[in-house]
Amino acid sequence: MSDLPPSEPLVPVPADAAANTHCTAADYDRLYAESIADPDAFWAEQAKRLDWVRAPTKIANWSFDPVSIKWYEDGVLNLCHNALDRHVAAGHGERTAIIFEPDAPDGETRHISYAALLADTIRMANTLKKLGVKKGDRVTIYMPMVPEGAVAMLACARIGAIHSVIFGGFSPEAIHGRIEDCASDWVICADEGLRGGKTIPLKANVDKALEKVAVKGVLVIAHTGGDVAMKEGRDHWYDALSADVGADCPCEPMNAEDPLFILYTSGSTGKPKGVLHTVGGYSVWTATTFWYGFDYRPGEIFWCTADIGWVTGHSYVVYGPLQNGATTLMFEGIPNFPDHDRFWRVVDKHRVNILYTAPTAIRALMREGDDYVTHHDLSSIRLLGTVGEPINPEAWRWYHDIVGKGRVPVIDTWWQTETGGIMMTTLPGAHAMQPGSAGRPFFGVRPQLVDAEGGVLVDEQTGGAAEGNLCITHSWPGQARTVYGDHDRFVQTYFSTYMGKYFTGDGCRRDEGGYWRITGRVDDVINVSGHRMGTAEVESALVLHEMVAEAAVVGYPHDIKGQGIYAYVTVNAGVDPNDDLLAELRQQVRTEIGPIATPDHIHFTTALPKTRSGKIMRRILRKIAENDFGSLGDTSTLADPSLVDGLIEGRKNR
Ligand code: WTA
Repeated sequence: MSDLPPSEPLVPVPADAAANTHCTAADYDRLYAESIADPDAFWAEQAKRLDWVRAPTKIANWSFDPVSIKWYEDGVLNLCHNALDRHVAAGHGERTAIIFEPDAPDGETRHISYAALLADTIRMANTLKKLGVKKGDRVTIYMPMVPEGAVAMLACARIGAIHSVIFGGFSPEAIHGRIEDCASDWVICADEGLRGGKTIPLKANVDKALEKVAVKGVLVIAHTGGDVAMKEGRDHWYDALSADVGADCPCEPMNAEDPLFILYTSGSTGKPKGVLHTVGGYSVWTATTFWYGFDYRPGEIFWCTADIGWVTGHSYVVYGPLQNGATTLMFEGIPNFPDHDRFWRVVDKHRVNILYTAPTAIRALMREGDDYVTHHDLSSIRLLGTVGEPINPEAWRWYHDIVGKGRVPVIDTWWQTETGGIMMTTLPGAHAMQPGSAGRPFFGVRPQLVDAEGGVLVDEQTGGAAEGNLCITHSWPGQARTVYGDHDRFVQTYFSTYMGKYFTGDGCRRDEGGYWRITGRVDDVINVSGHRMGTAEVESALVLHEMVAEAAVVGYPHDIKGQGIYAYVTVNAGVDPNDDLLAELRQQVRTEIGPIATPDHIHFTTALPKTRSGKIMRRILRKIAENDFGSLGDTSTLADPSLVDGLIEGRKNR
């Protein structure tokens, strides 16, 4: 039934992790069973981790057909209060909330206490109010990985504005689309960002985006001090505007189901979707998953290397750690600048206890050899985690053996923008690890594998082994509530493939031992270095070029990125598909989406393989891109079967 290799042998829980944990194996079994038997009681209890202005009496209220998802609907709270104020009120104001490590290794490191972060957030919140930002307004945030990015998010949460953070690597065109989609009137950005010694023109990118869409105000934070243009009446320097704001700003009491943030993510069709999360469920989910997932021990230094422009940055750089009163490290730079040991230098310098990063970074660093790692003192590390894409067992072992010295647990956490936080992982003190498998469902998560027709193959309750498409059959508090402004699209995308179930878009395998292993996307989404990219989006960018007739984009295995982007392109009659056109097309994609979407291969062809009814046979294009010419399957239904030989020839010559 399955052509996957057999399950990897289990790696036992290290003695220290088992002896010193919030959750032993027996605890997990009991808590998981409780969370399934009586979700309301379980999630009412977990909600007590937080301060509520009014504690919820209604816990779960959801349906996947029709789709309506509510948690804690009569509760009132504020996420910023739970992330900051309550720790200060409890006497922990002097504890470090954020450690900032700048791009340049000799740049200024900062330690920001909870009290200072609260003061910074109040200043930002009052400045936003002074500009005219109100509860429910959408605020676009386009920032580098600096503490002010977190401050901007927290300030929005404080006053009830809905933030939409855009990754600093996205292009002006992408910013434009996202501002327009959610009718955002406000932008917060830095003058410039720094990454690997290069300057990112953030404000200039915003200016270009705003040539096509108007906003009421842009708040500009001076970071590099670079020269930027300021538009009179629209653009404001943060320092100047905030100079006279007050030092008090009460947290807006938010209903649990009030919107918290929008985050754009790629799907298999159309433009990126604005996934919407609400205050109550997301707060409880990120607070709870952080505590158990990382088995967090107060005082520890936690480093998640994700950018705040992605959901991992939202949940595990900012909200999960801060709600738990943790110290979170924000790193502005990249793993290989100025050299391939930067991560290990940072771990050593700040005595990091928990490191959470992506398989693509691990693979890239593994390639550079062990010396970069072994030259540093990594004895502070107590736990390692990965997220974003499947990790190959070889990279897992390197991470475990060389970085972790075989002493510490490695957790492989599967989740999505739409799930708000971790959905499957082994718990560090409870579960033996299996390289390449995420492991077990988190509390309240009910995964199920179905076949293409929706027939149930296996779920956690029935047990057993199978491989299929991964669905979740019951809601959980951190679940996205809708696509902003387009509930139909939400229903269509996630709940219509298998009626009454949330479909993740991922393939997965469960073994007899109850370990769940994600095998990758089963839809037209590519996972490039842990970043989701819709093939349709890249295709739209390519066909915008006047010389291009058609484009078909597929993923193929890539040693470092996990998946690379392979584009088949046909050009208009009379056009010479030369190197200049190739360069223009690469640039076109960078302009429309951003550098991360740049195709690794652009393969010019005279035609695309289509069925007689005109449908592109992507399966064949995928196999050819994968260099897997032996299993193309049935090509006789193609309008022009002879095309395939030419495509194979073209692939071999690359
Ligand atoms: C993939 C990132 C295997 C998966 C948090 C999912 C993973 C998509 C893992 C979501 C993992 C994430 N093992 N695959 N541990 N974690 N994925 O929305 O395909 O950026 O659907 O959220 O990444 O990507 P997103």
